[in-house]
Amino acid sequence: MNRGRVSIIGLGKLGLSMAVAFAKRGFSVNGMDVNPDTVRKVQQGISPVDETDVQALLAKHGDRIRATETVADAVRGTNLTCIVVATPSGPDGSFSNAQLLPAAEQVGLALREKRGYHVVAITCTVMPGTTDEVVRPLLERASGKKCGRDFGLVYNPEFIALGSVVRDFLNPDFVLVGESDPKAGRVMERLYGRLCENSPQVARMKCVEAEIAKIALNCFCTMKISYANMLAEVAEKVPGADARVITDAIGLDRRIGRRYLAPGLGFGGPCFPRDNVAFRAFAKRKGVSVPIPEAVHETNRRQVRRVLETVKHLLPKGGRVAILGLPYKPHTSVLTESQALEIAHGLSRCKTFSVAVYDPMALDNARKLLGRRVAYADSALECLQGAELCIIATPWPEFARLTARQLQEQMKRPCVLDCWRCLNPREATRVDYHAVGLGNVL
Ligand SMILES: NC(=O)c1ccc[n+]([C@@H]2O[C@H](COP(=O)([O-])OP(=O)(O)OC[C@H]3O[C@@H](n4cnc5c(N)ncnc54)[C@H](O)[C@@H]3O)[C@@H](O)[C@H]2O)c1
Repeated sequence: MNRGRVSIIGLGKLGLSMAVAFAKRGFSVNGMDVNPDTVRKVQQGISPVDETDVQALLAKHGDRIRATETVADAVRGTNLTCIVVATPSGPDGSFSNAQLLPAAEQVGLALREKRGYHVVAITCTVMPGTTDEVVRPLLERASGKKCGRDFGLVYNPEFIALGSVVRDFLNPDFVLVGESDPKAGRVMERLYGRLCENSPQVARMKCVEAEIAKIALNCFCTMKISYANMLAEVAEKVPGADARVITDAIGLDRRIGRRYLAPGLGFGGPCFPRDNVAFRAFAKRKGVSVPIPEAVHETNRRQVRRVLETVKHLLPKGGRVAILGLPYKPHTSVLTESQALEIAHGLSRCKTFSVAVYDPMALDNARKLLGRRVAYADSALECLQGAELCIIATPWPEFARLTARQLQEQMKRPCVLDCWRCLNPREATRVDYHAVGLGNVL
């Protein structure tokens, strides 16, 4: 099956995952990146990013993916170009266009040489207004062509989670398309019809509406997480109460839903925290005060402080702490804004604690950030050796398989602080067990 050729500018965590997903679904892909090392690796069939299924799909469908360092080379021979470069947050929380602008200009120059209709899709997260007010005039200037007539422009962000990017990209709950004109929107709607493994609804709107929708959606998810963590803090003050039981129940109401409604550590990663702050920055720019994202942010920050206080309460004289898990979620090695990592940082700064860490994927990244202040273990059991407290900080499936016997055998004192209700409840009853959201403990 040959479903056409698309070009992708930026072969990072999202861009390369999209490239292999397109290839899996029968599309040919021209991938472009400014990093020569990334391009060389992709050409050799080696994934430069650590993301589920990407390496396997690159090996299987690499013949459908061409990697280049030149935008014109990538755009030529395709009718759709997705720009997926990074848009890091600035000091006020707004997203920077420093990578997007040169990429868009190069795409515009490539369009000058190209015949036929072309759609440019901005996939990266941008501040509302960017596609119409910044990218559109830039593309028109560089290409000498008219948006809406010679080429279409869409804002088409993806709602994916690291660790399941390919699966999420091919099976979205819905597709969000902000369009310069109906023709561009129709092209995207048809594309997703052929690309997706499910049949998602496509929500089409103006670019600025889609730009607001993208960060508003993530803000809503963070609100659910902080709501659950607020309940956790309250339940902890009530002997015998369990916030998990409460969130599981209220999540059954379809007006609420269960996803993201569970006590745990706060949200982290490269999207949620910054989209929340960006929404606040955007509203402020428009002269609107938005207390909800502010409260969500503050509740989120409080989770780390609460866990650190609990550790000090459980080990008032200090001692050895084993931290199991470092990324903000399992199945990724990304440590951006990870509260598990912050806990490791916080404890390692206290002279009374010695900290050992273990993670199945993120130890190499952790070494760069935590240095020699902590000990690194090659397995969970090694990490537990001699510890007086075990903190389960990322809910990897392998930690759910730990037994009370293993904890008793390895640890000096089998005491667990389970941030995610990961441990099997039967095993939990056989050790000194504490958990976020469990009454009368923290
Ligand atoms: N990673 C995620 O979970 C996720 C989820 C949703 C949205 N996003 C958004 O997608 C965008 C990309 O995120 P990412 O995680 O893939 O970033 P990333 O940093 O992993 O990748 C960005 C890539 O773009 C390349 N690049 C930079 N300037 C370029 C240019 N001028 N031309 C071509 N390539 C260039 C970089 O070399 C890098 O390989 C961001 O806006 C991000 O907010 C990411």
